[in-house]
Amino acid sequence: MTEAAASETGFDPGRTLVIIPTYNERENVGRIVPAVLAAAPVDVLIADDNSPDGTGRLADELAAQDSRVHVLHRPGKQGLGAAYLAGFDWGLQRGYDVLVEMDADGSHRPQDLPRLLAALAEADLVLGSRWVPGGSVVNWPKSRQWLSRGGNNYARMMLRIPLRDATGGFRAFRADTLRAIDLSTVDSQGYIFQVDLAHRALERGLRVVEVPIVFVEREHGTSKMSRAIVGEAMWRVTVWGYQLRSGRSRESKQ
Ligand code: GDD
Ligand code: MN
Repeated sequence: MTEAAASETGFDPGRTLVIIPTYNERENVGRIVPAVLAAAPVDVLIADDNSPDGTGRLADELAAQDSRVHVLHRPGKQGLGAAYLAGFDWGLQRGYDVLVEMDADGSHRPQDLPRLLAALAEADLVLGSRWVPGGSVVNWPKSRQWLSRGGNNYARMMLRIPLRDATGGFRAFRADTLRAIDLSTVDSQGYIFQVDLAHRALERGLRVVEVPIVFVEREHGTSKMSRAIVGEAMWRVTVWGYQLRSGRSRESKQ
């Protein structure tokens, strides 16, 4: 981070990589990348799953224009979890100190990024949270709000975790946190990946802090949320909850 940015927050998180997974985000990728670069001194990695709409080619053009932008091309749609695992691997191999998750569609406001990074001064993992005081959602249908609240309540109860928003996808990890989590045993594919990682960090005694964010529903393109993603989330949380109660650690299941 630059000296100016460090003195603004009183804390220098080090070299930071913002990973943005994309699947059919042609209308969004060209907006979010410059906005992120303007908001904080970071590099950006777009992890594209060979989007049929040409998002990957657009990402290549952005990378050609700015050396802070990188692209990871993946062979096909393999889920959010797999895209992030590949992105983390890419960033850890290149020595980044902080790795950030962020959606491509504008739901995560770049202006909230400096606050997430500043909170890492006292945390190993910072979660942008819609469901803590000061957090909110804008333009989300009631059905999505209840799905998110219900899913979070179920995860909190089943996994005995103190988090209000364990499913959110705007978060900052110290590199050491990702190394401690043992990513090689993560097999969550959809959005439950987020709960999995937060839970693993807590299990290892790491400091997980929630900071309020305003989540703004996308204006362009469509959500990739599906019944399969909800189904995977429900059964994984249920299985982990029972494993917890029977005293078996999660890693021992494989
Ligand atoms: N590479 C890749 N592969 N990217 C994906 C995939 C995939 O299989 N599925 C989704 N994405 C990307 C999207 O292109 C977008 O940039 C981001 O992941 C989030 O996907 P959305 O489809 O916009 O998610 P959402 O708005 O419905 O869901 C929000 O809430 C979830 C539950 O709280 C997001 O904030 C999620 O991160 C969150 O888990
Ligand atoms: Mn979205």
